[in-house]
Amino acid sequence: MFDINTYKKETKLRDGTKVLLRPMVSQDQNALYEFFKSVPKEDVKYLRDDVSSRLLVEKWAKNLNYEKTLPILALKDNAIIGDATINRRRSGWKYHLGTVRVFVHKDYRNVGLGHTMIDELADIAYKLEIEKLIVEIPDLETGAINAFTKAGFNRVAVIPNMVKDRENMPVDVVVMMKDIRPAHDDAYDYDF
Ligand SMILES: CC(C)(COP(=O)(O)OP(=O)(O)OC[C@H]1O[C@@H](n2cnc3c(N)ncnc32)[C@H](O)[C@@H]1OP(=O)(O)O)[C@@H](O)C(=O)NCCC(=O)NCCS
Repeated sequence: MFDINTYKKETKLRDGTKVLLRPMVSQDQNALYEFFKSVPKEDVKYLRDDVSSRLLVEKWAKNLNYEKTLPILALKDNAIIGDATINRRRSGWKYHLGTVRVFVHKDYRNVGLGHTMIDELADIAYKLEIEKLIVEIPDLETGAINAFTKAGFNRVAVIPNMVKDRENMPVDVVVMMKDIRPAHDDAYDYDF
């Protein structure tokens, strides 16, 4: 059985930076707040949550439940430089899906960290018996769409005006998916 609590992986980025990937623990609260403080204004506009809120980050850290939200952090020394999550519903018609989000610190972009984290999420998803990963990306985020395409995600839909940016303007969302396991297999012990 795969135990996410013992998961960790050391890797090297294209520029030689050594990075440790591991699940977030509650003690990461302050480091995660610092990480989100560095998010550039142009990125904040299209983020789902208000990550500048200390209360929100505190809530995430206090209510960690890997079954629902699994946050994988990328650390350089003790600083967080990347955060990637898989969200799941553990029952009902979406029990086999995982929704992912990835955020890389602006100073560590374009050296392969995003790609590495997306690949790791796919590997972890396989071990967790997730069948498909989904990502929803604002249609203007071409960098993110490129990164997910290169990591094997396919564009399956564009939903017009699905979300609002921080200026209350409607934004189209691109839905991308990656198959992780066959669509149905009797051998899996799912709880519908
Ligand atoms: C999207 C994001 C995670 C990519 O992370 P990254 O570490 O810079 O990505 P990588 O260096 O692994 O690049 C992966 C691929 O995507 C491409 N890519 C990344 N950013 C790009 C950009 N701004 N424009 C065009 N292509 C881009 C790269 O060319 C790369 O391809 P390659 O491996 O052939 O060189 C990062 O830019 C980010 O955090 N953006 C803001 C948050 C966001 O939009 N998240 C996604 C929504 S969930």
